[in-house]
Amino acid sequence: MNNSRRKFVKNMSLGIAAVSTFNPLSKPYADKIKIGVIGTGLRGQAHISTLLKRTDTEITAICDIEPKMLEMSRKLFKDTGKPLPKIFTGDAYAYRKLLDPKSIDAVIIATPWELHTPMILDALAGGLKYIATEVVLGVTLEDHFEVVRSTEKNNAQVMMLENACYRRDTLAITNMVRQGLFGELIHLQGGYQHDLRGVKFNDGITPYNSGAEFGEKGFSEAKWRTNHSVNRNGDLYPTHGVGPLAVMLDINRGNRFESLNSFSTKARGLHNYIAKKGGADHPNTKVLFKLGDVVTTHIKCTNGETILLQHDTNLPRPYSLGFRVQGTGGIWMNLNNGIYIEGQSKYDHERWDDAKEWLEKYDHPLWKRWSKEAYQTGHDGIDFFVMNAFIEAAKRKEPTPMDVYDAASWSAITPLSENSIELGNETVTFPDFTGGKWMSRKNDFASTDAY
Ligand SMILES: NC(=O)c1ccc[n+]([C@@H]2O[C@H](COP(=O)([O-])OP(=O)(O)OC[C@H]3O[C@@H](n4cnc5c(N)ncnc54)[C@H](O)[C@@H]3O)[C@@H](O)[C@H]2O)c1
Repeated sequence: MNNSRRKFVKNMSLGIAAVSTFNPLSKPYADKIKIGVIGTGLRGQAHISTLLKRTDTEITAICDIEPKMLEMSRKLFKDTGKPLPKIFTGDAYAYRKLLDPKSIDAVIIATPWELHTPMILDALAGGLKYIATEVVLGVTLEDHFEVVRSTEKNNAQVMMLENACYRRDTLAITNMVRQGLFGELIHLQGGYQHDLRGVKFNDGITPYNSGAEFGEKGFSEAKWRTNHSVNRNGDLYPTHGVGPLAVMLDINRGNRFESLNSFSTKARGLHNYIAKKGGADHPNTKVLFKLGDVVTTHIKCTNGETILLQHDTNLPRPYSLGFRVQGTGGIWMNLNNGIYIEGQSKYDHERWDDAKEWLEKYDHPLWKRWSKEAYQTGHDGIDFFVMNAFIEAAKRKEPTPMDVYDAASWSAITPLSENSIELGNETVTFPDFTGGKWMSRKNDFASTDAY
């Protein structure tokens, strides 16, 4: 039995053992939990919609500083006939009053990136034990360390809501990896390759493709996200690409990211978009964007694999996370929807199998069980799984399947890649957020069909 097959069997037997000894009645199991949501913008509203479909959660409090977003959220409650939550608003710190463990069991944070770390730290200081944050965890490397240390100190769970880890294709590929079909993993690729020009700029009223404004004159992400493209150069959004790959590679569970370097191209796409959308004389044509149009990051893992990530959000292109999973036994690529498994594929190595048949054959148990519920939520069903995982862990008072170490190491790619580019593409060392625990932790992510 090869190494990865042995590891899979070992990991799976741990998963099965965990399930067979699990008895909800013997644990402090809650039938229903109370949730607070901070940030009821477009993503917060998607989470509210997902939660309103559940019978085991009650959203008792929401917070935002924009009346328009609060009104849109209130409508979601009214449409389902569920009780309206208590609303916290009025100033940038109103959320602190929501963070009361006597009133809520868990909090979900869906605000601009730069607010995640301070809000998580306040939630931990306030005594909350289940905290979910949207991607990414923080901005600076110090942010990531602070959240990790404070989570450990408070014995809490901080889960980053990385929904890409629940994609039907990447979970089927994870299943195949664990069953040894790709042999020993060697090289993986992914990224965030999404034309966001119509998100980074709008008319201040409608969110997508409506204008050339950003910052104070923008609406939703154009209000804050675009400023990161003005001021920072690095892989600004690494976690959708790296999350599923980290799961396959047992990162923080027998393996870890050791070093990385990043390269960035020149910046043209955002300027050209403003000129096209707002006219050559639009004041925003004078803005200089620091973010290169394509940022490429190479990560080295302790067990000898490499990962190539690409951040590509400023140019015209169709969406693709550009996954590639390659081992000693075969390869999957999502762009050409192809799989080749040596000795098992239909053709010799000159041709690809259509991945569809393989992905169906190795469909993950989670998808087999929950696809009906999943397809009622956003992003092709993955929003159901990520929220379900957080809620089920909180009800059982168990560790969340993706924890603060995962959040920190996936999201710290951003400041590390900025650092590498700043240093002339130098290779920089990846910190070990687990403080050595990666050597003994086991990978039980999605090891059953429970959550
Ligand atoms: N995983 C995914 O698929 C996915 C998709 C979209 C967005 N996101 C992430 O979700 C997060 C939010 O993005 P979004 O698209 O909803 O942006 P958004 O701008 O629509 O929403 C952010 C909300 O936060 C509110 N806010 C700002 N400061 C606040 C404060 N001090 N207190 C309370 N509320 C405050 C804003 O008023 C706004 O309503 C980001 O981290 C983004 O990257 C993830």
